Amino acid sequence: MKFFIDTANLDQIKEAYDLGILDGVTTNPSLMAKEGITGEANIIAHYKAICDIVDDNVSAEVIATTFNEMIAEGEMLAALNPKIVVKVPMIKDGIKAIRYFSSKGIRTNCTLIFSAGQAILAAKAGASYISPFLGRLDDISTDGLKLIEEIRLIFDNYAYPTEILAASIRGPLHIIACAKLGADVITAPLPAITALLKHPLTDSGLATFLADHARASGL
Ligand code: E4P
Repeated sequence: MKFFIDTANLDQIKEAYDLGILDGVTTNPSLMAKEGITGEANIIAHYKAICDIVDDNVSAEVIATTFNEMIAEGEMLAALNPKIVVKVPMIKDGIKAIRYFSSKGIRTNCTLIFSAGQAILAAKAGASYISPFLGRLDDISTDGLKLIEEIRLIFDNYAYPTEILAASIRGPLHIIACAKLGADVITAPLPAITALLKHPLTDSGLATFLADHARASGL
């Protein structure tokens, strides 16, 4: 399972990359705004800065919502760096745009997926990734993990090459559940990823090992 970090914060991206487990980055307009990145020139510079940190898979979301504008914006974003994956919203013109980008060899991430039907359409259009938002489904008392399970079954039935990118992850248990269900990728905030490191028995076990070593060594 690939690990992406879900942030536009350069320090957090560097920290996750330095851990040696990072396969990519997802951003969205809200995450860019949170970092205070506004204006086309600054947004473009920020995507380039992210691409300089990681090896591949930098999702850059189009702001446009009509076909022609999405094509123009997506081609501009894709031309910034071969690591860019154009993130396209799950709307009618978005599906057309994904088909267009697919025919041009431009990778896409279809975002704001909340149903299996949406996932099927995006896969048929040739999306490289689809992003089901499981946390936001949980927020409205709908089982987000059930959606991941459904999409996994459907994509396996037809051997769709589109990768399931589980998004809107809220904690380490979401990540583990996605791994059990066979999601191809998770994107999560840094605290959810680093929480996987932790176990109190690891901490107490290490403390005992070090204390025993010190005692036996006469330290
Ligand atoms: C990822 O691509 C999404 O933009 C992100 O996971 C949304 O997460 P949120 O529901 O925590 O905003």
